[in-house]
Amino acid sequence: MSLPPFANEPILELRRAGPRQALLDALAAVDARLPLRVPVLVGSEARAGDALTSTDPGDPERVVAHAAAATAADVDAALDAAARGFARWRAVPAAERAAALLRAAAWLRDRRTEVAALEVRECAKPWPEADADVCEAIDFLEYYARGAIALEEGRPLLQVPGEHNELRYVPRGVTAVIAPWNFPVAIPMGMTAAALAAGNAAVLKPAEQSPACGHVVVQALRAGGVPDEAVALLPGDGSAGAALARDPRVQTIAFTGSAPVGLEILRTAADTREGQRHLKRVVAELGGKNCVLVDSDADLDEAVPGIVHSAFDYAGQKCSAAARVLVHEAIADALIERLSGAVEALETGQAGTFGTDVPPVIEREAQERVDRYAQRAAADGRIVARGERPPGGWFCAPVVAADLDPGSPVLREEIFGPVLAVDRVRDMDAAVAAVQSLPFALTGGLYARNPRTVEAVAAQLPVGNLYVNRSTTGAMVGRQPFGGNRLSGTGTKAGGPDYLLSFVEPRVITHNT
Ligand code: NAD
Ligand code: ALA
Repeated sequence: MSLPPFANEPILELRRAGPRQALLDALAAVDARLPLRVPVLVGSEARAGDALTSTDPGDPERVVAHAAAATAADVDAALDAAARGFARWRAVPAAERAAALLRAAAWLRDRRTEVAALEVRECAKPWPEADADVCEAIDFLEYYARGAIALEEGRPLLQVPGEHNELRYVPRGVTAVIAPWNFPVAIPMGMTAAALAAGNAAVLKPAEQSPACGHVVVQALRAGGVPDEAVALLPGDGSAGAALARDPRVQTIAFTGSAPVGLEILRTAADTREGQRHLKRVVAELGGKNCVLVDSDADLDEAVPGIVHSAFDYAGQKCSAAARVLVHEAIADALIERLSGAVEALETGQAGTFGTDVPPVIEREAQERVDRYAQRAAADGRIVARGERPPGGWFCAPVVAADLDPGSPVLREEIFGPVLAVDRVRDMDAAVAAVQSLPFALTGGLYARNPRTVEAVAAQLPVGNLYVNRSTTGAMVGRQPFGGNRLSGTGTKAGGPDYLLSFVEPRVITHNT
């Protein structure tokens, strides 16, 4: 099977009236269907229920979906079905598995405005980001489809006379996929599609905040031709994820979420149960405390909008979002003044309104957490800018704080909201030392013009993704393979050429000829 080279799905041109109207029409169509119903999907069975409810963060009275919550019996049935699904799916040639993923991509492409509208309602993703999330999900399907074919070809080994050596990659078995809500279609689709591309069966546990978006993932894959038994949907809270992580029938756990939960999953997975004959593999993509370094020669016309987008788009609820700025003391006052002006001008508002810069955060607990950190920032330093906070949904005012006590938790802990801390540093060596002292290493940014500074910083920062003279968010499949180091993750790179290797076992066969 020969496919055209991978290319990213083009985002919609949202300055044009046509695409805007198409999205607004899609939102009206989604609203007319609310509340949606999300079942547990195991094999050909669908079990409806309403133990779980997702609501619109911009209008918490609006119910987006009633979902069944997976019980212990559902987890058990899903893993039994997945074992049967695995036996069948692993025997399907890579080209046919790839074709199913490509049909799933086409299914999603045909519904892209409707799926983006669902993200607006269920997760308060503003339009540009909701559209980009659907495009990223399509990209994962297209990219891993090609990866499946390349993987089946194996890798060349050294051959000597009288001997033939072959390296094959075989699927590992059942993969539990445990996903967050903040990229509600792209991230669960990426992990699930990777597992399936490599020939595994997958059981998806979407975040409790976004069951309807998780449902779309499984609908797309099944519509593409992935057998029902090879991909299950288990909506539910963390207990369903924990049950999957514990179960000895699971071979691989693909987890994206917070560091505390990721560490718990790693500990659980290390515990070998009675009768278990394999070591579980955990692919963990976790949180961050992402810093942007600004040198004295930086172009502030680039740095200010880049930092504002990095810190406040989607209300700072991206693992890749900027949380700290480390600015050279020679330009710190100028940067703080310009950042403050830009942040006070941000539009905080509904995700479905074109022009909104900062949407509400996902839920009440998130709003309370952000408020606590903003108060702590005021106590440990000074607030230099605070934007608007509309009434109604789970809105938070965007905040910039400066000159915090070096021991403040605001400088070390992931807040996951629209709070940015600015520190002055003597030089870029001091900025690098500050980043080196953090437990996380996900993304980093640098604004500088001197190529020697750029090289020195790139050589020393431990982060998984460093962005020079641009924002720290928006990694593109195939262009910026994404994932962090240290407590930010196991070092795997979603959307990169090595990612599928986490879902297979290597086997070497040597023939004496
Ligand atoms: P979370 O850790 O609270 O939840 C993630 C998933 O884990 C959910 O499905 C949840 O139900 C499940 N879960 C909760 N407790 C569990 C347990 N004990 N065992 C198994 N599963 C359990 O994270 P979240 O709030 O959904 O997402 C935000 C976090 O995700 C942030 O920390 C963010 O930085 C991180 N994130 C990282 C990346 C990345 O690529 N590195 C991408 C997106 C989000
Ligand atoms: N891949 C997402 C980004 O880069 C997390 O923003």
